[in-house]
Amino acid sequence: MKKELVYDLPTRVFHWLFSGLFITAFLIAKTVDSESLVYTYHMLVGLTLGFLVLLRLIWGVLGTKHAKLSDFSLNPRDLISYFIGILRGEKRKWAGHNPASSWAALFMMACAVTSALTGYLMTSGTAKENFEDIHELSANAFMIVALVHVAGIVVHTLRYRELIGLSMVNGKKADVSPGEEIRNQRGGVALLLMGLVIAFGIQLVRNYDFQSRTLKFVGTVLTLGENEAHDD
Ligand code: HEM
Ligand code: HEM
Repeated sequence: MKKELVYDLPTRVFHWLFSGLFITAFLIAKTVDSESLVYTYHMLVGLTLGFLVLLRLIWGVLGTKHAKLSDFSLNPRDLISYFIGILRGEKRKWAGHNPASSWAALFMMACAVTSALTGYLMTSGTAKENFEDIHELSANAFMIVALVHVAGIVVHTLRYRELIGLSMVNGKKADVSPGEEIRNQRGGVALLLMGLVIAFGIQLVRNYDFQSRTLKFVGTVLTLGENEAHDD
């Protein structure tokens, strides 16, 4: 069966960076003592994740057809008919994001921004306690939706006998209606995206003082440690 290109390279690079950074930030938070030096990377990875989402939102305006946020299938009726279609085994194809992954994607991006923002506020001197609960809540909600998203990919794969997961690797889907395919991978933009994210991460590490556990970040000083007035 002929497959057509639907996801450009920046979207795919974003996807794997986004999932990788999220899992890293989440695992550090859940497994490492917050007094440990490794926790530093929780903060740095989290801030990089927030920056990555910012870039994706820009690509959501400037990108190719199915990278555009306006291409996301967000009509609640489509979401309901998607689930009904799954139950009935109807063969309906989406060249871009199906309704479930459209909602999941936006929700996960919103959780990433909320986590990064509350993490920033918690470490920038603003009372940590005020934002700690929202920080944990958005991170946990993020994880739940990410797990549902992966489960959804598995269900979709089995129900429609379509290896949809591969579309985030090679960018291609089968049964794409004429006019829905894209012509250009936008490899240059993908390189730029990776370059910007790596540069951002390196800059964070360079601005981090491992002695005082402080980070100089856009005009503020973020502190991991004494800001965190622990109850224990
Ligand atoms: C923590 C893990 C994951 C997170 C946070 C995540 C997040 C996302 C996000 C944000 C999007 C939207 C991408 C965009 O438009 O920029 C997306 C789409 C997608 N993801 Fe994931 N993802 C994860 C794991 C996976 C895995 C393991 C697979 C494959 C096995 C996968 C396959 C896909 C596919 C195929 C789409 C497009 C769905 C469609 O065409 O309807 N994801 N994911
Ligand atoms: C954006 C992705 C992020 C995710 C998914 C995330 C996730 C989490 C989670 C799950 C916890 C709670 C751990 C527990 O169960 O006790 C936590 C705690 C924390 N996070 Fe984040 N976080 C993110 C970003 C950030 C950022 C950007 C910062 C700082 C700039 C930050 C600073 C902190 C701090 C200070 C704590 C509290 C540590 C403690 O005293 O227990 N996080 N984070």
